Amino acid sequence: PIEVKKICCIGAGYVGGPTCAVIPHIQVTIVDLNQQRIDAWNSDELPIYEPGLDEVVKKARGKNLFFSTDVDKGIEEADLIFVSVNTPTKKSGIGAGFAADLKFLQLATRRIAEVAKSSKIVVEKSTVPCRTADAMRTILEANSKPGCHFDILSNPEFLAEGTAIEDLFAPDRVLIGSLQTQQGLDACAALAGVYANWVPRERILTVGLWSSELSKLAANAMLAQRISSVNALSAICEATGANIDEVAYAVGKDTRMGSKFLKASVGFGGSCFQKDILNLVYLSESLHLPEVAKYWRAVVEMNEYQKSRFANKVVDTLFNTITGKKIAILGWAFKKDTGDTRESPAITLANHFLTEKARINIYDPQVSKDQIWLDLTDYGDIPAEPIKPHVTISQSVEEACHNAEAIVICTEWDEFKTLDWQKIYDNCPRPAFVFDGRLILDRKALTDIGFKVTSIGTGDRL
Ligand code: NAD
Ligand code: UDX
Repeated sequence: PIEVKKICCIGAGYVGGPTCAVIPHIQVTIVDLNQQRIDAWNSDELPIYEPGLDEVVKKARGKNLFFSTDVDKGIEEADLIFVSVNTPTKKSGIGAGFAADLKFLQLATRRIAEVAKSSKIVVEKSTVPCRTADAMRTILEANSKPGCHFDILSNPEFLAEGTAIEDLFAPDRVLIGSLQTQQGLDACAALAGVYANWVPRERILTVGLWSSELSKLAANAMLAQRISSVNALSAICEATGANIDEVAYAVGKDTRMGSKFLKASVGFGGSCFQKDILNLVYLSESLHLPEVAKYWRAVVEMNEYQKSRFANKVVDTLFNTITGKKIAILGWAFKKDTGDTRESPAITLANHFLTEKARINIYDPQVSKDQIWLDLTDYGDIPAEPIKPHVTISQSVEEACHNAEAIVICTEWDEFKTLDWQKIYDNCPRPAFVFDGRLILDRKALTDIGFKVTSIGTGDRL
């Protein structure tokens, strides 16, 4: 089998950084056009927060792990190249709002073809629509130098943020898709050989190229579908007196179902679920499968409904107006143990509260003030001046909750589970309202203190 001696990864983001940092022995250079990001990867303040990442990077950096902006050198030296660039939802043109924007992927592919002086294995690690490898092959073949041959593999990444390092060290599976030609299978064996350094062979699955590409969209769509299903049921619970945690527990005990990914919430966020489902919707439509498209679109629609339902509940409960009222938002990240805020439900809620002219006070243990402002202004698309008087960003829970008429839990950070709620209550006007968007609080204990507690999936009916 071909032995991979040098790896290059194009894209030093949430996926490229952690996935390459766990590769032992083999020399890996992660390249990116973003100088600031590369500088951060080479410093003590890594550009992303992920438990365990600092330790892994510090151990390997300068030994077998390198970060650089010299994309061309990275490509030239490597025999295997991961393409791990962003593939966001298209904002304009055909498929706007649904299709994946593949410009970064295509630019990276073109660069590989232009720069490579020897044959390479090119690995699609970004999440892409089914049959993207075909387009990559055409670009590579049309631009390559004589004698250079490219094999394309699909190797989607399944890590979840917040647990990326554990997921990468002990993955449920590694998926590699290749053409079923001898060359394709040889390239597949070479990449499998890289993973075999730390992943048991039986967890390395090898399939066809198109199955691999589609499996990634399928996995994310089905995971998100579970959340939308449980969130839809949470609305029924609130109206009937059933309790969503109890329902999810009972349903999840069925071994055919399993208990994971059944936690009701204010809605799912993150850079992947919505984007990948919309991508699947677009794919279904372009394949003339409108019923299939409609089915998956409903998963995203239910998520939008859950977020607005929760926001409306806050307004209703505060006697139909929150104008001028102070609302504490606890948590800004899309889930705990990450500083990532992409598609975070907290952003939707904050926008809703600002439209209602409330004053919001935000606290998150990992998200910077600058990032919160980027999110509130949609990266500069919304003017900051008009909302500035209504927004405060706090350094502690106590500060955010001081004098708040409502406290809204948006992220399930562990530190929110052990707060001194009596002390917080003593500093709130009456009635003091808490809205638990993550089902992490002890409802009875808070009610005993005097709070009026509203949680997702539990109503007031006995
Ligand atoms: P990201 O935005 O954090 O990182 C992508 C990086 O690629 C950026 O730093 C950008 O500067 C760089 N880049 C873009 N074009 C480039 C080019 N031509 N040359 C060099 N560098 C370039 O994105 P991410 O979250 O790491 O996601 C990357 C891909 O992985 C996406 O397709 C995503 O869907 C997929 N994915 C993400 C996750 C996740 O949890 N974030 C999980 C699985 C899969
Ligand atoms: C997801 C997939 O899990 C991962 O396999 C893929 O590679 C990338 O997309 P990520 O978005 O990082 O990972 O986090 P995930 O744990 O899936 O959470 C996504 C969102 O769903 C978060 O907002 C989370 O709070 C929410 N969620 C998750 C729920 O509301 N309920 C649950 O039961 C699980």
